[in-house]
Amino acid sequence: MIKREHWGSRIGLILAVAGNAIGLGNFLRFPVQAADNGGGAFMIPYMISLLVLGIPLLLVEWSLGRYGSVINHSTAPAIFNNLWKNPISKYIGILGIIIPLIVVVYYTYIESWTLLYSIFSLFGLTPSVSVDTANGEYLKPFKDFLISIIGANSEGLLLSPSIYAYIFFLITLLINLYILYRGITAGIEKVAKFALPAIFIMAIILMVRVFTLTSPDGRNFLDGLGFLWNPDFSALTDPKVWLAAAGQVFFTLSVGFGAIMVYASYIKPKDDIALNAISGASVNEFAEIILGGSIAITASVIFFGISTTAEIAHQGAFNLGFMALPAIFANIPFGQFFSFLWFLLLFFAGVTSSIALSQPAIAFLEDEFGFPRKKSVLILGLFLFISAHIPIFIKGALDELDFWVGTFGLILFALFEVLVFFWFFDSKKAWQEMTRDNDIKIPSFFYYLIKYIVPLILIVILISWGIDYLPKKISENTLNIWIARGFIVFTIIISILLVKYLWNKRGKQ
Ligand code: PHE
Ligand code: NA
Repeated sequence: MIKREHWGSRIGLILAVAGNAIGLGNFLRFPVQAADNGGGAFMIPYMISLLVLGIPLLLVEWSLGRYGSVINHSTAPAIFNNLWKNPISKYIGILGIIIPLIVVVYYTYIESWTLLYSIFSLFGLTPSVSVDTANGEYLKPFKDFLISIIGANSEGLLLSPSIYAYIFFLITLLINLYILYRGITAGIEKVAKFALPAIFIMAIILMVRVFTLTSPDGRNFLDGLGFLWNPDFSALTDPKVWLAAAGQVFFTLSVGFGAIMVYASYIKPKDDIALNAISGASVNEFAEIILGGSIAITASVIFFGISTTAEIAHQGAFNLGFMALPAIFANIPFGQFFSFLWFLLLFFAGVTSSIALSQPAIAFLEDEFGFPRKKSVLILGLFLFISAHIPIFIKGALDELDFWVGTFGLILFALFEVLVFFWFFDSKKAWQEMTRDNDIKIPSFFYYLIKYIVPLILIVILISWGIDYLPKKISENTLNIWIARGFIVFTIIISILLVKYLWNKRGKQ
């Protein structure tokens, strides 16, 4: 077995964990979810989900990861199998590798658009048209641009992306692989130490710029903030808003992927997890609701008003970040520069997250196969390169993967984490494991919260989510959709065979 890596310093660890959490979710996904779900109406379920589900599950995942550092394994198959001797446990643990692995396939592709947009903005290659808000077509040039880059205008089941999209994807993939190849301290931690401060500086510059915008018809930043921060209790009875809020909390905290577990496994066996988890979550929430909540939504509300902003968000997950903001920047002095900054911010946030999404697969190859890091990164690189052709070239595949893996998968895996730890292992011992050696005390009501309330809510979410979305989803039966599903099934089968082979070889269970 290779010698285990550890984080170099506490501050390095916190920055790496913040880099893991702070991503496209904060600056692209959060504004879209909030705007599409009523702004102030979204924030109440969001805050409640954060406190009742997000923080407890984060503590669970950190605790499982620290336990991994004790037993010298980073990933869920071995960690689950050590806690719960049932032979099925190692197969359930597979989710903690393939969820981040499949998400990173499309996450890296979106990340590569942000690099493309940032470079293109710098050189003035993005559309520059003055926005005539009286005319309903003002976003059209920006929409056409995005469509031509990702090739969404083709007929049939295939996309026809521009060669630039493909080239920037390759560059982005290579950057990711290089960081991973350098390892935990010299790669991930070092990049985080540089990228995190840069992300905050860029976000604050953009926020200040947005706060000094005004529209000809007199709207200013207070209208944007009002949209997000005036509580609206009317939507509290709408399960869709609750599902969206809980989904966003999972996504933004990186909880339910298995990625936090792997980062946590690189602490020392007797290090703190509670303060680490809370600091990471606090930094992420600052970046989400203060910075992420102030840039895209506020700018769009100032320029287009509340109802159009909600409409833009409703029409597509990328429309606010990739269409509305470039359109706004095209209409202010030095807009090219601000557009460059916006997309570079997204790129930095994206990179520190995609490496976190990739690390579980690498850790699995290193820990369980005993492969050196170089070989593990090479295998991952080949897998990502080949698989990425699915979201790059097949229509609807990105959304399909995001639906099954990036939405449903997370909640399912989070449920298994709690069940394995607090039910199938032993809740008293799990609580002991979670509360030992921490720098701050975890309040004792968390025990009941984690053991009873959290799994109950997760089951309710899975059921209501199934009722709301499954019938429509399952009725989609076109070839492109089946290719995406086939890819998921294929990845699951390969992983099951690998885990079976590994455990047979060890002669265990
Ligand atoms: N939390 C990241 C975001 O907000 C996404 C992510 C999930 C990153 C899981 C790493 C692991 O974009
Ligand atoms: Na986040």
